[in-house]
This record gives sequence, structure tokens and C-alpha cells, in this order.
Amino acid sequence: MGQFAVFGGILAGVTTLAGAQTTTDATASTDTLSERGVAHPELWPKYHYPVVTPMDEERHVEDLLARMTLEEKIGQLVQADICCATPDDIRKYHIGSILVGGSDGPNGNDFAPAPEWLKTADAYYLASVDKRDGGVGIPVIWGIDAVHGNSNIIGATIFPHNIGLGAARNPELIEKIGAATAQEIRVTGQEWTFAPTVTVPQDYRWGRAYEGYSSDPKLVASYVGAMVRGLQGPPGQRDLLARDKVIASTKHFLADGGTKNGVDQGDADISEQELRDIHGLPYGPAIENGVATVMTSFSSWQGVKMAGNKSLVTGVLKGQMDFGGFVVTDWNAHGQIKGCTNDSCPKALEDGIDMYMAPNTWKPIYEDLLKRAKAGEIPMSRIDDAVLRILRVKSRLGVFTAGKPSSRPLSGKWDILGSPAHRAIAREAVRESLVLLKNQGVLPLKPGGRLLVAGEGTDDIARQSGGWTISWQGTGLDNSMFPGATSLWTGLKHAVEAGGGTAQLSPDGSFTQRPDAAIVVFGEKPYAEFQGDRATLALDADLTGPYKTMAELKAQGIPVVAVMITGRPLYVNQALNAADAFVVAWLPGSEGEGLADVLIGDAQGHARYDFKGKLPTAWPKTPSMADGALYPYGYGLNYESPPQAWKPLPEVKTAITNDNHVWFTAGQPASSWSLLVNDGNGTANETRITTVPATALGGRVTISATDYKVQEGARRFSVSNGLVAVALRNFNAIDLRRETNAKVMLLLTARVWQAPESAEISSVGTGGTGAIQIPLDATDHFVRYGIPLECLAQKGADIQALTEPFVLTTTGKTDFAIGEIRLGTDAEKVLPCK
Ligand code: BGC
Ligand code: BGC
Repeated sequence: MGQFAVFGGILAGVTTLAGAQTTTDATASTDTLSERGVAHPELWPKYHYPVVTPMDEERHVEDLLARMTLEEKIGQLVQADICCATPDDIRKYHIGSILVGGSDGPNGNDFAPAPEWLKTADAYYLASVDKRDGGVGIPVIWGIDAVHGNSNIIGATIFPHNIGLGAARNPELIEKIGAATAQEIRVTGQEWTFAPTVTVPQDYRWGRAYEGYSSDPKLVASYVGAMVRGLQGPPGQRDLLARDKVIASTKHFLADGGTKNGVDQGDADISEQELRDIHGLPYGPAIENGVATVMTSFSSWQGVKMAGNKSLVTGVLKGQMDFGGFVVTDWNAHGQIKGCTNDSCPKALEDGIDMYMAPNTWKPIYEDLLKRAKAGEIPMSRIDDAVLRILRVKSRLGVFTAGKPSSRPLSGKWDILGSPAHRAIAREAVRESLVLLKNQGVLPLKPGGRLLVAGEGTDDIARQSGGWTISWQGTGLDNSMFPGATSLWTGLKHAVEAGGGTAQLSPDGSFTQRPDAAIVVFGEKPYAEFQGDRATLALDADLTGPYKTMAELKAQGIPVVAVMITGRPLYVNQALNAADAFVVAWLPGSEGEGLADVLIGDAQGHARYDFKGKLPTAWPKTPSMADGALYPYGYGLNYESPPQAWKPLPEVKTAITNDNHVWFTAGQPASSWSLLVNDGNGTANETRITTVPATALGGRVTISATDYKVQEGARRFSVSNGLVAVALRNFNAIDLRRETNAKVMLLLTARVWQAPESAEISSVGTGGTGAIQIPLDATDHFVRYGIPLECLAQKGADIQALTEPFVLTTTGKTDFAIGEIRLGTDAEKVLPCK
């Protein structure tokens, strides 16, 4: 409380958003005058929220409020994940909203077929309006991350991720995408999408940068209104469920893209002016277009977590900016507020959030709020205001009169999911998002000849779709899970064959008949949220295999076109040098033909479509953006561009991986980690393994190299007898609370020649150790074991300060190799938590 600093006229003349500058001009520092993390709402631009609740509807919601018990009111403030709350829970606790996390789905099945989603929607809805135990029966609403199409659902149209749309510079297209996405959501019965992401990333090492349209706030702002209108309809429109609309959510408020070093959920230690002029800008058009909800960020501003920042949520967003919808938190983000836990956080409500996203913590949150409300610790006026905001949004949506999900327009119309009309929009978006960085007269390709298509991810729809696609991280999928979709390869093949030529798919670039030209695809693999954070802007060296293919083809005089699949601009000078033409495809999604539309010309060799994409952010010159841009924001060639001389770019060696979730790979621990062998009794008898062959524990262990993925990519441990521990130790204790909260696992890839008598994996922290048995049976191949972090935490590991997060202890004679140790979700064998 009392967080509002009052400034009268002292600060008159400080730049406000009108005529916004995007530069970081720190001259007008208001912050020195105040506490850190406290905003000055009066300095922010004013907007007008155009949504008015008609008198009769307002009377209706106020009447409901008057009849609701305290239990019912508190229930409305809580959102539960379907993973962890049954329809009966929704009925009993009057829960206001459900969500499905990226790795959840109906009946515990992330890959559940579309009809099951609709059936599930009915079950929860019917439970919510069941008045068996009395009460008013407020219908529940279901939120989903439909962030690039209704992207959790098998068969949906998958649009390019936002960074690609940013390249397209086409707000009308954005509105069409919003409208198509809304329709596809309605087919499976949800009412609410956690989109659009209106982040303005300033550091592309951030693993969520691709979820944002651009690093330029003006470009982002130019899209937001269009996307909100596409999803919700024009701002004055009501009764969305009687139409083909859903409610939207702009996220993540505020400055999720402004954190230091691009660390996910980190701290934006920036001035209030930057906060306002860069990160705040897109909220203007969102509010002017009547966005129904805003999601707060996991991150903090000047050390204060957003969900607990009253000056920003209540003062700026709801006050000065006039936002009239409701504010929802992010996934257990309330637990990160100072003084809060996942199970208890009245402060978030007091500071202005209206709904808690409490996926698996809904019950303790509900009980805690109820207890405190009864004790008079939370002002009733704040509770009523939050409930009213939620009820008004529900009323605008039309959920009070819409009936059960399956009875509404579009529900169950399976042919709308991935319909040809929607795929055509996505294909257009792919065409318009492609950015041409180099063309030495090779493109467009003539379709009549022989085309070789090589590289990685060429025929892999999951790879070209990125994270937040069917599964949370976009991993664990194959082409069969994308019915109706087209890979880049298939699109190219069709176009070439239609023009009378032939195409050959050859990932390693080998061929029997000499091709006339080659396309080599390469780039990033899917990731989401913090798992995509990187230490530098270099493409991980273990993804650069196709560079060699490019060089070999070129050495044979075959023209090479490089196509990069990526969520961000990266240092890839070797590929830029090696190829004759270079195209950035971003994360195009399910309609791979869009690439062929632009790359493959007509029979006369003329382009069928020209390049339109312009870089939505600058391209780095080196692995560090601090060294400046190779290509500036807005760069992009087309078929009209005059020919350019190519000056070879400097090439530097880059790390095998920049992913700080990979601790051991290619035979080496990552930087700041050590690989150690000891007897499990402290460091006295310890050997640090740097080179091989090596021995440890007086000859009881021999360490050698063996192949995994790459030559000598694993370390083999041959143990003659006794107790042996192989450990990874970090220089600094690491905090894995966030990963643990998201069901991430410790992944050990190992091969066993001789099984030990017993083996266990432990995680050592400053405040405690957790251990779990691992059955290391002999196999003739490497196996990726998954140890849930949740389990290690349950067993006592101090998850927020781990010094040796990985220790493998064996007893007896044994012989095994370790290929990789990292965090992730893609285990082959998940160890039971016994
Ligand atoms: C993400 C949000 C997402 C939510 C629900 C969070 O972890 O940060 O963007 O909407 O989960 O899946
Ligand atoms: C994500 C969810 C996901 C979950 C995995 C969260 O951080 O936002 O969408 O399902 O982690 O448990």
C-alpha cells in the first residue's frame, strides 16, 4: 500500500508516449526521485477503453454479484489447469476459469484428438453451471495458448510464429490470422486465447523472442489492434460466442522483453521512460481495441515482480490506461512475488490482479484467499471489483446465454480446423515473412531442372513450427501429427514437379545424379520459454552440420540456396559465406509451400511471388549484439534488388551449445561445469576429468572416449569394483525452481555394457540432497533417462541452490558411458519417483 508517489507538477515536460521515441534517452530520469519499481501513472499516456456494458447486462452481473456467496466470489478469481482439477472440482469450488498448459490436454493426453477437447469443454461447462448445491452457477471459461493458430490441437492450421509475421509488415494479414485462429478455437470449444504476445524483445538471447513481432515498439503497436480485432471482433461487439469470436489476452505485462541479458522471467532494470515508451507502447492499441484480458509477466521491473506491482497494474494499466477488462497472472507467477508462495499470495489480488493462474495450486490459493477474506484481511471492495470485472468479460463474451460449448456456432465443425481457406492465409503469411539476405543471381530457381533438397529439418513439420506447437516445447512430434500440413520439402517437390522438373530429398547432400541447384535447410530446433534462453547469439555449433554440405556442393559448382529455420537472428556467417543465396524462413508453421511459392519461379524462370519480408530486428555481426549489426532492422532484398558483390564475412569459432540447460555434451562439460569422479565421500579422493584416457580412485576407474552423436562424443567409465560417483559440479549454485514448476526433467543419456550392482542419481544442494534409484540395465544403444526435478525436490534436493545437480553413484563392477546430461522434457524412459 501507499505505493503511489505523488509528483504534482515537478515532472512536467517529461517525454510522454505521444510522438514516442524508441531510443533509450535516460535524461528524463524520474526514477531517482522514487523508490525502485514504483511507476508514476500520471506520466503515462491516457487511453480510452471503448467497451461499455449495456445497462441490462450491468444490472445482470451486479445482481449475480449480490447473490453470490463469498465462496463463489473467491472461486471466480481462480483459474485451474485441467491437468489438476476435475469438472467436479469446478462445480464444488465455483472455479471461474480453466486453462490447458502447453503440455496438458484432455484426460491427461496432450495429443488428444479434436473431438475430445470439445467433449471436455462441455464437461467443465456443465459442472460450472450445476446449481445442485445452490449458488448462482457462473459458467466457466477456458483459456488456451492459441499463439500461432489453435496450435495445441492436432490438425489445426499452424501460422508462422510472430517474429515471421513481424517481417511481413502487413496488419491486414494479421487481422485475417486472428479471425481464422478464433474460428479454429471455437471448433474445439474454448473461449479465450492467451494471445497476442505483445512483447518488444530487446535481447534475442531470450528464448521467447520469437513470440514477439519485433524489437521495434512501433511495429508491434501497428499489429496489436489488428490481432485483437481479428480474435474478438470490433471493440463494441458483444455476444462473441453467438458469432465466431473469442476473447484475447495481451501478454506479458510489462517488459517481459526487457530483462537483463534476455533472461526469461528476469529483471528489466530500465528507466520508467523505457518501460513506457518501448514496452508500454503496444498496450495502447490493445486497450483502444477493447482487449478483454491482460496477462502479467513473470518478470520484474527494477526488482519488483509484475504480478505484485500495484503502481503498474492498478495505477498505470487500470487507472491511467483505463483498461476495463480483467488481469490474469501467469503460471504460478504469484509465487515469485516477495512474501508469497505458490499456495498463498493475497498481495497479488490487493495489488490489482483479478484472476490467479494457479494451474496445480488452485485449491490452496482458493482456500487461502477464502480464509483471509473471511478474516477481513482482504478488502471486500477489491474482491467485488475483481469479480465484477470477470463477470463483465463473461457477459460480453455471451457465456451466460451461449449454452454448452458443443451447442455453439462452429463447435465440432471439424472441417474448419485446418480448412483450405485458413491454410491459404497461413501460406500467404509464410510467403510474406521470408527475408532474403543474399542472392548472387541464383533465385528464383527454374522449376524445369533437377533440384537437390538437403540439410536438417527439411521434411520435419515440427521443426519448422517451433515451440508452442501441439506440445509445449514443440518436441516429441513427427509428421503424422500434422495431418493436412506440408513440410518445406513437400512444398518444394510439388512446385518443381509442377514445373516439369525433379526433386530429390537428401539430408546429407549426397546424390546419384548431379543436381542443377541445391537448397540446404538448417537452423534451430524447437524450444519454448526458458529452455530457449542462450548465452550468445551464435547458432549452436551442433546444429551447423549442414554448413559442410553447403561448402561441398558449392565446391562442385552446384548453386546453393541456404534456408534458415529460426526463432531469431543468429550469427551464421559461415552459412552466409558458403551459400549463393540465403533466405530466413523463421518458424513458418504448417504451410511449407509458402517457401516454394517464392523460391521456385515459373516455367520461364520468372518469379511467381517476390520477397516482401524485412528484418523485424537487426541481424548480428558476431555472436554478441554488442558488436553491432550485420544487417539493420528493415533489411531485406527482393527480386528487383540490384546485384551485389559479396565480401566474405569473418568467421569465428562458436560453442557446441549455448544452451545453459545442457551441462555435458560432446564429451565435455559446459563452461562453468566440471566433470568429477570420486568415492562419494567428499572431495578428498577426487579426480577432475579434462582429457581422456584418465584413471581415478587409484585405478579403480578408467575413463575413455566412445562415440555418441559425434566421434568421441561420450565418456566411458569402466569400474572394477566398489562405490564410485560421477558428478557434475557448477562453480555457482544454480536455481531450478522455475524448471521444477514446469515438470522439466534431468535427462541422462547413457549406455551400459555391464550393469552395476546398484545405481542412484542424486542432486546435491546447499540445503539438502535428493536421490533416486536408476535401473542401469545393459543395452546396445544409448538411452535417455528422465528424472523429474519435482521428484528430486520431493526427495529433499534444495532445488534453488544446487551445487552438484547431477551425481551418478554406482556400486560393484560396471561399465557405462555418458553421452549427455541436460534438462528437458523429451525423455525416453521416465524414472518412477519411488
Ligand atoms: C507462459 C504463458 C502461457 C501460460 C499458460 C506460462 O508459463 O508464460 O505465456 O500463456 O504459461 O500456458
Ligand atoms: C507452461 C505450460 C506448460 C507447463 C509444463 C508452464 O511453464 O507455461 O504451458 O504446460 O509449464 O508443466
